[in-house]
Amino acid sequence: MTKMNFPYMTMPLPEWLGPVVAKVFAKMCDDTTGHDFLHAVRVMELAVRIADELHADADIAAAAGLMHDYYRKEEKKTGRLHFGPEAIADLRGEFGPLMIPEIGEKNFDTILDAIALHESYSADVALSLDAQILQDADRLEALGTVGVARTFMFGGAHGLPMIEMERETTAVEFNPHVAPYGSVHMHFYEKLLKLADGMHTAPGKRMAAQRHQVMLSYLQQFENELGLTLPTVINGT
Ligand SMILES: [Fe+2]
Ligand SMILES: [Fe+2]
Repeated sequence: MTKMNFPYMTMPLPEWLGPVVAKVFAKMCDDTTGHDFLHAVRVMELAVRIADELHADADIAAAAGLMHDYYRKEEKKTGRLHFGPEAIADLRGEFGPLMIPEIGEKNFDTILDAIALHESYSADVALSLDAQILQDADRLEALGTVGVARTFMFGGAHGLPMIEMERETTAVEFNPHVAPYGSVHMHFYEKLLKLADGMHTAPGKRMAAQRHQVMLSYLQQFENELGLTLPTVINGT
């Protein structure tokens, strides 16, 4: 294990991850959509913390966390999903030669399988523990103060207004297969406030509960300051 000299990385990591971190840094360091290098690092470290607590494979959690949004930048340009089959094939080509000699094909496939499902919200899809850990870590990044900050970064980058004038409530389900629409404000209701209930692991649920409360307080203050009222959502669910 070694401590790597990249911004905000606090955990010692296996040496074979060094070249993976370097590639992720080169690709994501200038992102301004909320999916930057620090998001990859934070998801990696959250995933390792969850894996350690569950006695799962922390190296797989680390690699999956680091790599999970690698093609996110291309997604905006091409419309191709960053976790779809083409992206997974590209990840195999890009990282396979670096990683398979170190961790073996089976572990490498486990990492790619987790990445392929990291934005799957369907209850019908059975997730492996490694996939659950990645999803929980990624969802934690959409909660709490970092989640709020990232939501506004994402909205600005995709041309969404801060609040919407016309819609008063929302029944719209978040769908990662559809281009962003609506407003940053509505995104809290369409996606963010639902995330804590969808956590898989015990550590994920515990961390999400705290971050959910912080986000809810933020949202209520935000709405107070703006004079917005969404009584059906605020008072009920
Ligand atoms: Fe993603
Ligand atoms: Fe992510």
